[in-house]
Amino acid sequence: MHTIIEPFKIKSVEPIKFTTVQERETILKRAWYNPFLFSAEDVLIDLLTDSGTSAMSAKQWAGVMDGDESYAGSRSFFRFERVVRKLTGFKHIIPTHQGRAAEKILFSIVGGKGKSIPNNSHFDTTRANVEYSGAEAMDFPTPEGKKPEVIADFKGNMDLNALKAFIETTGPEKIPLCMLTITNNSGGGQPVSMANIRDTKKLLKKYNIPLFLDACRFAENAFFIKKREKGFAKKSILEIVQEMFSYADGCTMSAKKDALVNMGGFLAMNNDRLATLSRNILIVTEGFPTYGGLAGRDLEAIAQGLEEVLDEHYLTYRIRSVEYLGEKLTAAGVPIVRPPGGHAIYLDAKNFAKHIPPQRYPGQSIVCELYRVGGIRGVEIGSVMFGRKDPKTKEFIAPPMELVRLAIPRRVYTQSHIDYVVEVVKDVYAHRDRLKDYEIIEEAPVLRHFTAKFKPLS
Ligand code: F0G
Repeated sequence: MHTIIEPFKIKSVEPIKFTTVQERETILKRAWYNPFLFSAEDVLIDLLTDSGTSAMSAKQWAGVMDGDESYAGSRSFFRFERVVRKLTGFKHIIPTHQGRAAEKILFSIVGGKGKSIPNNSHFDTTRANVEYSGAEAMDFPTPEGKKPEVIADFKGNMDLNALKAFIETTGPEKIPLCMLTITNNSGGGQPVSMANIRDTKKLLKKYNIPLFLDACRFAENAFFIKKREKGFAKKSILEIVQEMFSYADGCTMSAKKDALVNMGGFLAMNNDRLATLSRNILIVTEGFPTYGGLAGRDLEAIAQGLEEVLDEHYLTYRIRSVEYLGEKLTAAGVPIVRPPGGHAIYLDAKNFAKHIPPQRYPGQSIVCELYRVGGIRGVEIGSVMFGRKDPKTKEFIAPPMELVRLAIPRRVYTQSHIDYVVEVVKDVYAHRDRLKDYEIIEEAPVLRHFTAKFKPLS
């Protein structure tokens, strides 16, 4: 078989800035060892996120020029609505400026004190929006989903036994809805099988609990189903996507991922009452229902992106380019979450930096070293992002995994950029004994990873 190549040619390029190790040491210090506080210009290869970092196609840019900026009833909205409805089948489609705006609206209606929201794994903003409403966010990943070294096809699945037990002890009346994050970002970008989506719905139906998909990476999830799940090899991505959504009652979506745009999102559902309540909040916080938090041009670009993302040549290249990075690192003995996820490689920081305990932030230490050595920016997904103190004992509670995510922006970097990343990670791993412990010297009460200040300990 021939090499799987980028299914596009490049029309417009953006230079990246080279810095020296000494310069990067100063930059790290100035940013309190928190890569969120860097100036992005000082980053050579930016793997902080795959969110809002996609390269748009010529057709998307053409759509930007063609966007209808009417306040109400914009043509671009109707195109957007048509495309989203074709994919999801949902009755009500409500544009928002990004995923968390959809989450905020949804949970300010269904959340609140005494309520619980189960999920395979909440992403940080989803958890924050659930908790901000006063509700409790519960994660039920499967046992293999918590073990980086275990290879399985659908490590993003919901643990249905655990979910059932939770519903029975909590009482279904306290659970306004259940979420399923596809692919499971916090759990390594791992896919959820069609069987698991179907069975989650089946279980919830018994208790009359609606199912909502956190659908940011729905197309990548669908591609994994096509490749790995029995009975789907011959189906088109569109058919698989439609089946996935057919089991759900609604979704939240960050278009900054699989809609291949730099900004946007939506909230969608079948329930009329919930839609009315959502639109009422939307008008106050985002905008009129035919634009939400977006310009007409954004809606055009999203509609176009949602059509392009279903292309199998694109998805083959996309999933392969992440797998390629994973294969090279695994061959070099670098511990990663296996198999590679859809949008990112997750370094297993617990095994990478065995000498650093969770409360000294092994992931953060690796993140800083990747930047120092090679100008690469990744992100910690471990005790910095999800670690907390027991409210009673004040004891540190670490999350199940300590990870460093190297997220691959869509259609942005070429194979030689990725080869460079492999070299730098290998280099950092070879000298892992010099990775330092870190402590937090300042933090915000929620989503602390964005602004926390760190200090390396010698
Ligand atoms: N849900 C998931 C699974 C996500 O990964 C994200 C964002 C959101 C919701 C929120 O969407 O950013 O548009 O408000 N994830 C980004 C990331 C930030 O880097 O993984 P948003």
